[in-house]
Amino acid sequence: MNKIIQIYPWIDKEELIQVSKVIKSTFLTENKYTKKFEQKFRSITGAKYAIAINNWTMGLFCCLKALNIGKNDEVIVPDITFIASANAVILAGAKVILCDVDSKTLNISTSNIEKLISKRTKAIMPVHLYGNSCDMTKILKIAKKHNLKIIEDAAQGLGVFHKKKHVGTIGDVGGISFYGNKLITTGEGGIILTNKKKIYNEILQLKNHGRKTKGKFIHEKIGYNFMFTDLQAAIGLAQINKLKKIINKKLKIYKYYKSHIKNNEDIKYIEKVDKTLSVYWFSNIITKQASKLKKFLSEKNIQTRNCFYPLSLQPCYKKNNSIIKKYVNKKNSLNIYKSFLSLPSAVQININELNHVIKNINSFYEKKNKTIGKFS
Ligand SMILES: Cc1ncc(COP(=O)(O)O)c(C=O)c1O
Repeated sequence: MNKIIQIYPWIDKEELIQVSKVIKSTFLTENKYTKKFEQKFRSITGAKYAIAINNWTMGLFCCLKALNIGKNDEVIVPDITFIASANAVILAGAKVILCDVDSKTLNISTSNIEKLISKRTKAIMPVHLYGNSCDMTKILKIAKKHNLKIIEDAAQGLGVFHKKKHVGTIGDVGGISFYGNKLITTGEGGIILTNKKKIYNEILQLKNHGRKTKGKFIHEKIGYNFMFTDLQAAIGLAQINKLKKIINKKLKIYKYYKSHIKNNEDIKYIEKVDKTLSVYWFSNIITKQASKLKKFLSEKNIQTRNCFYPLSLQPCYKKNNSIIKKYVNKKNSLNIYKSFLSLPSAVQININELNHVIKNINSFYEKKNKTIGKFS
């Protein structure tokens, strides 16, 4: 059997047809297709405003800038996330306050947030990791009590709902990533979501050199170039047409793993918060045997992936005073990191491949249990 890749996008002739139309039009930069793409996202998420952006890392940066967060300000970020969440805060000039994560949901631990709030705290950045919503009900309460902004990092949250609201639209501002491994992709790219007109207007200017419209050379603000392209939008529109199928297939993959991996007290699954709808972007397991299992599967040509390395342990932050490590139990984060594995989860995975992965996982645990039996 060929190598089973953990994740890859579903691209076919539909994307080619859409991109060809843009190429034939010769208008490659942000234009009609981007408008249509943004319109689709307003209807998918229910957000009043949607702004396409060159990537979600810069999207996060724009959200922080639009909320006037910078020097001397602090933003609370979970210890386990992709590093871009924290780097955007550093780029905006503010300080990152790391918060513990919940060992069952892997998302920001709401019982620790209040301990981290100081006079300088301006915002909380919940990250909806692996398609599971954070406890937004509690986070909204805390933010309201302490007058804090909420920037939702829903990079991995497309299709995820909390009490019927799409993640990324619950706080002040949020957004989604379309990087190549995400639920849908535009290569690089992201979308910013908000219901607040002021934030929308600020971000429009920030992403387009500080002006309100293209083609004019009067710049009201100092801005940047974070524009999208119609080439990306064309791919995105083709991907949106597949979104329902992708979400359904991901759920099927997850359920198939869960029902065919033999019951085993050593394997657990991420838990979700009440009244939320998850999307199974990646099928993940939690097991003390993660590193041995990863090696075993790799020898069978099956690729798996670790979880994000805790920010509190990142070598690049060791001597950086923009990261303030408070109330982070490094052992807890490290345990999560060490016991987590993303299984092959691409939409195109076929039943033979799935059965092959499952057979090998089951045989790994059978062998392990036999070994334990011999020595006990
Ligand atoms: C949680 C999280 N935040 C931020 C990002 C950054 O998004 P992008 O790659 O679009 O810049 C990612 C992307 O992988 C992510 O997973």
